[in-house]
Amino acid sequence: MAKIGILLGSLRKESFSRKLAENVATLFPGGYETEIVEIGNLPLYNQDYDDYNEVPAEYTAFRNKVKGLDAILFVTPEYNRSVPAVLKNALDVGSRPYGQSVWSGKPAAIISQSPGNLSAFGANHHLRQSLVFLNMPVVQQPEAYIGNVATLFDENGKVTNESTVQFLQSFVDAFVDLIKKYKG
Ligand code: FNR
Repeated sequence: MAKIGILLGSLRKESFSRKLAENVATLFPGGYETEIVEIGNLPLYNQDYDDYNEVPAEYTAFRNKVKGLDAILFVTPEYNRSVPAVLKNALDVGSRPYGQSVWSGKPAAIISQSPGNLSAFGANHHLRQSLVFLNMPVVQQPEAYIGNVATLFDENGKVTNESTVQFLQSFVDAFVDLIKKYKG
């Protein structure tokens, strides 16, 4: 059983990122288990916590949780043309103490979404930049930029548009191929 952790770049109750993630989670084949890893409780990263052995319990729980995952799916909006701070903070927390990053080598995939037309391209690529440094192999193709996201869901939060579902399935298939390549 491969465990996929899903990290969201939004804390909002009615988040489109969360709704999209819940739809994408249903597209994984048997043998793949998904779980949204909540990141809203992580204190802002402060290196003193690690340097002075005052590590918040939330950091330890988060780092241990990510260590136990086989791969990470990021689903994120764009804030001011970049990665929302809450998601960047989670990346930073998991990357330290120096030399003990929980991210290294874990296959990853990025879906960016926006109610607008530009589909959070800026967030998608700023996130990619961090994942290069964190040594995470990332799905290259297809790239997932989901625009006009507010129009996609029915009243139960389900994506009904057949071509979008097909696209998301092809994206998940590419992610599964990447995971198999790295995790066997
Ligand atoms: C936004 N939004 C936004 N959208 C976008 O396409 N490009 C951007 O740069 C920004 N910047 C931005 C900054 C801040 C602080 C907020 C709160 C919002 C709009 C954003 O895409 C929209 O609120 C999404 O619905 C957020 O995703 P969730 O919360 O629905 O997952």
